[in-house]
Amino acid sequence: MYQIELYRDCLAFAAFAHQKQMMPGSNLPYLLHLTEVAAEVICVMPLRPDLDSDLLVSCAVLHDVLEDTSVAFATLAEQFGRATAEGVQALSKNATLPKDAQMEDSLSRILAQPTEVAIVKMADRIVNLKEPPHYWTIDKRKSYQEEARLIHRQLKKADVYMAERLENKIIMYEKYLS
Ligand code: NI
Repeated sequence: MYQIELYRDCLAFAAFAHQKQMMPGSNLPYLLHLTEVAAEVICVMPLRPDLDSDLLVSCAVLHDVLEDTSVAFATLAEQFGRATAEGVQALSKNATLPKDAQMEDSLSRILAQPTEVAIVKMADRIVNLKEPPHYWTIDKRKSYQEEARLIHRQLKKADVYMAERLENKIIMYEKYLS
């Protein structure tokens, strides 16, 4: 399949799956989040010709379909292949675990996946470290920043450029903490 066709298939699949979902604290469609994460990984591609760009983009666009929609692992594997479905699975929290253990668990599963999956996780947090929804308390914001530090610590080896971008976003987030 030509790469552009794959990107468009992923976007159409995600647009349908997330059609009723909005960005938190906003009335913009959730698809914006997914395209922002895709934009981040597309910018890394020229720096990382060693990576599988199809896996990078498909995991970026589809990274929330298992966690946030009714799409099943088998459907994802059938449409986009096992590597993408397993990457998205690793990027999804296991809701049966206690809340404070979910990120550590996801990160350990991400580290068992190809590098592309770790890059998507860093891209996801980079785009999420923007002005938080107005209803987030200071404590919630602080723990979000702390969680971002954990992501950075665990995944920084996957890509120096993304690690540096994430580190900068963590520092910039300071302005939302008071
Ligand atoms: Ni996300």
